[in-house]
Amino acid sequence: MNILIIHGPNLNLLGSREPEIYGSESLPAINERIRTHAEARGAVIEIFQSNHEGAIIDRIHQAAGTCDGMVINPAAYTHYSIAIRDAIAAVGLPAIEVHLSDIHAREPFRRTSVIAPVCRDQIVGLGYRGYLQAIDRLLG
Ligand code: DQA
Repeated sequence: MNILIIHGPNLNLLGSREPEIYGSESLPAINERIRTHAEARGAVIEIFQSNHEGAIIDRIHQAAGTCDGMVINPAAYTHYSIAIRDAIAAVGLPAIEVHLSDIHAREPFRRTSVIAPVCRDQIVGLGYRGYLQAIDRLLG
């Protein structure tokens, strides 16, 4: 199985960004954990991070025909990007939404995900382990 991992805006700053909320691990360190976990399960992983909505949409489109599923942390776009939601729906690949923090236990504006209805599952509050769980769910 070929799995695309998408990290949305500001996640490139993990490690230094609000460590009390997101932890002290950098994105490259988290990506290494994701790769090791996926490879141990025989999955092929592609990882993409962007701070730009259009770039994320283009990457989702590219995944059609090349990937079997995706794990996406849309970051702040979670709460308002109908365009990313539509892209996931358009390609029709199984998708799992992941958040490092528990978005349901934070500010009210974070409790709404416009992405969740087009995803199989939403995993929140487990830090990097959420990505690993999402991979396991896709591998079924
Ligand atoms: C986040 C939660 C979002 O509300 C926030 O905008 C992020 C990160 C998380 O992983 O907990 O950038 O997606």
